[in-house]
Amino acid sequence: MDYKLYEGIERRGTNCLKWDSCPEDVLPMWVADMDFPCAPGIMEALAARVAHPAMGYTRRSERDDRAVIDYYARNHGISLKKEDLLFTPGVVDSLLLAVHALTEPGDKVLIQTPVYGPFYSVIDRAKRMRVESPLVETESGKWEMDLADLDDKLPGCKLMLLCSPHNPCGRVWPRETLQAVLNLCKKYNVYLVADEIHCDFALDGRKNVSVLTLEGAQSGVAAAVSATKTFNIAGLDHSTFLIPDAQMRGKIAEKASEIGMKGGNLLGVLATTAAYETGDEWLAQVKRIVQENRDLAVKELTEAGAKAWPNEGTYLLLVDLRAFGRNSDELHELLMDKAKVRLNKGTDYGKASDGFMRLNLATTPALMQEGLRRICALLKAL
Ligand SMILES: Cc1ncc(COP(=O)(O)O)c(C=O)c1O
Repeated sequence: MDYKLYEGIERRGTNCLKWDSCPEDVLPMWVADMDFPCAPGIMEALAARVAHPAMGYTRRSERDDRAVIDYYARNHGISLKKEDLLFTPGVVDSLLLAVHALTEPGDKVLIQTPVYGPFYSVIDRAKRMRVESPLVETESGKWEMDLADLDDKLPGCKLMLLCSPHNPCGRVWPRETLQAVLNLCKKYNVYLVADEIHCDFALDGRKNVSVLTLEGAQSGVAAAVSATKTFNIAGLDHSTFLIPDAQMRGKIAEKASEIGMKGGNLLGVLATTAAYETGDEWLAQVKRIVQENRDLAVKELTEAGAKAWPNEGTYLLLVDLRAFGRNSDELHELLMDKAKVRLNKGTDYGKASDGFMRLNLATTPALMQEGLRRICALLKAL
């Protein structure tokens, strides 16, 4: 089916964070959503519901639960029961709940850095002690976990937040690595909560390995997922926390109810069900475009003197611009003012990625080419 993914859509004027917060002449290649129209099954389900003139309180149907369970079984080999599912407005809210429910103020929570910004803030704002295990950058630009460092730092921690696939480093972690992480968490009695929001974006035929499929995942392990990133419905604020461990789930559910966090936005649930039921083919086509955009971006940026290791997962490319002798703030300013493109600063993800910028690949090939033309012209002039 032709999903009109190559044609692009006008996103300005829709209260779109990515486009409407940039000046007219700036091409936005920052925040992680897509310049593609949603899968038709989603739009049809939403249109049919919006045509009904009442928008009162809602409840989940059997079909909504089944759509989640079937999707993660079919695409990720996760075996779930209805009671394993907890619904939140977003994956960041799930991380926040985990921190508040599973730890006390002052407790240690481990993250691997650089990493998506809210990993820092959910810990810091909760007044927990943040423990960082830096990812190690290799010669090629590929980032690796430091398992020896984890072994040193996990003792005394209560919780580890894992980003898998990894934003912004683009890794799809191998099963052995993830199993080693879980084994360490078990050894030191640390809860493991994985943000798997990018799990559908394992590229080049890879499959993401969910922590829930590891040996020993029945206890102390949870995964936060969502259709929002995969199917471009992030404005609908709905996500699922997969928590097979009943005790852990009980704590998290209790915290959600204590602070009044509810998941179950009428349109978010509906769109999620439609995405999971009808979106596989649309997603396969989007992934092909993301891969083509990535390959082009890596080639052109490399030719312009940048270093870009081709991301294995996510639709985000971390570009190393340290050769140009500017920090991320300076690069951001140059890119905005001179090249007229907006990317995310490497420092949004931590100090280790200063001098890097993050490029969103989920756009039409035409916009990707235009963005790369602008970026590379700037780099060649520096
Ligand atoms: C790793 C990661 N987690 C969470 C989110 C945001 O999730 P949500 O909007 O569901 O809170 C993003 C968005 O880019 C992300 O990259």
